[in-house]
Amino acid sequence: MGRRCVDLPDLLAAAHARLGDVALVSPRLRGLDLSAVRDLRLGSVGVLGVVDPDDEAGEAMLRQLGVRTFVAPDAPAADLYGAVVGALAVPSVPSDGDGDDLTEEDEITRRGQVVAVWGPAGAPGRTTVAVNLAAELALGGREVVLVDVDTQAASVAQHLAILDEAPGVAAACRAAEHGTLDVTSFGRLAPEVLPRLRVLTGLPSPDRWPELRSGAIERMLEVARLDCDVVVVDCASCLEDDDELSYDTVAPRRNMAALTALDVADQVVVVGAGDPVGLQRLVRGLQDLAGRDVEIGGVVVNRLRASAVGARPMSRVQSLLERFGGVEAPVLVPLDVERVDAALLAGTVLHDVAADAPVRHAIASVATALVG
Ligand SMILES: Nc1ncnc2c1ncn2[C@@H]1O[C@H](COP(=O)(O)OP(=O)(O)OP(=O)(O)O)[C@@H](O)[C@H]1O
Ligand SMILES: [Mg+2]
Repeated sequence: MGRRCVDLPDLLAAAHARLGDVALVSPRLRGLDLSAVRDLRLGSVGVLGVVDPDDEAGEAMLRQLGVRTFVAPDAPAADLYGAVVGALAVPSVPSDGDGDDLTEEDEITRRGQVVAVWGPAGAPGRTTVAVNLAAELALGGREVVLVDVDTQAASVAQHLAILDEAPGVAAACRAAEHGTLDVTSFGRLAPEVLPRLRVLTGLPSPDRWPELRSGAIERMLEVARLDCDVVVVDCASCLEDDDELSYDTVAPRRNMAALTALDVADQVVVVGAGDPVGLQRLVRGLQDLAGRDVEIGGVVVNRLRASAVGARPMSRVQSLLERFGGVEAPVLVPLDVERVDAALLAGTVLHDVAADAPVRHAIASVATALVG
């Protein structure tokens, strides 16, 4: 039995009430976006695009939103039946790489790795590490994209003295939701700030976190990794998933940006602070990650200093992390207020203000460990 829905909210309500198994959508359906298609599919409702055979733009748009099966409006009954069965057969949870069968991107063979930089609360230096790691990778000849998905306190733009008005991640996610994000439009949103280093800045204010929804972040990272070697992602610290508390499984959730980045990432660089509080949080953070099926690409103890951990801080922290966190070779980055402040003041990276400093070399060694 069919049901004609008057608009998208009506369609979503009908789908949530399980009034049907397949939703027929046209590219002209107002408000249809990536999250809506995702919600339908997560609710095990197949999505069938109804598109004129000569409406290539309409089909491409729906494809970007995750629609995989199409039928013409005037298709004979037998074709329609086959298309409905085909739409039902598409897996309800979009799989990795599901969204990248795009026209212009077919020619792009490069698919870079995604490295998420994460660390527990307390400003251990995630952004400092992410920015300088990205810069070191670029200095080493890699094409790098740095993306700020911190929904609590985005700061990549400030670290690199990029104007507040930069459209950044919010615009990229909006384009992803509307099915218009591709390599070309992504390139316009992510300016090159250093040779081979492009940056997608974070949210200008944290109250805009609902704009960064899971499907859009996934799609954005999928596009970001096309045509570059490494995507470095600066993530917020909080990983609590309030899924179990919420009856509404499709509502946006604040920590989804970090959780999605960790899910998508090929490797995670974990940053903790080199003091008793930071180290305890780091060990607990590593335990949290252990339950998440992520590959740890490096553990960084930042702002390390004897005054906070005692004499011979390096060997002390090394043995402590081995004993309590099972970490064999952490990267130890010294506290160097003068050099790190100088980079921050100049809105640039450590390489430009303190090329020979141990603090720079320590972060550069994370890059070497990641890409060889
Ligand atoms: N090795 C270091 N030596 C001295 N200062 C440092 C070092 N690393 C980071 N800092 C400083 O510590 C502060 C916090 O660093 P950063 O912004 O990178 O942390 P974060 O973990 O990203 O914090 P947030 O919670 O704001 O995202 C900054 O002022 C930064 O300049
Ligand atoms: Mg930060």
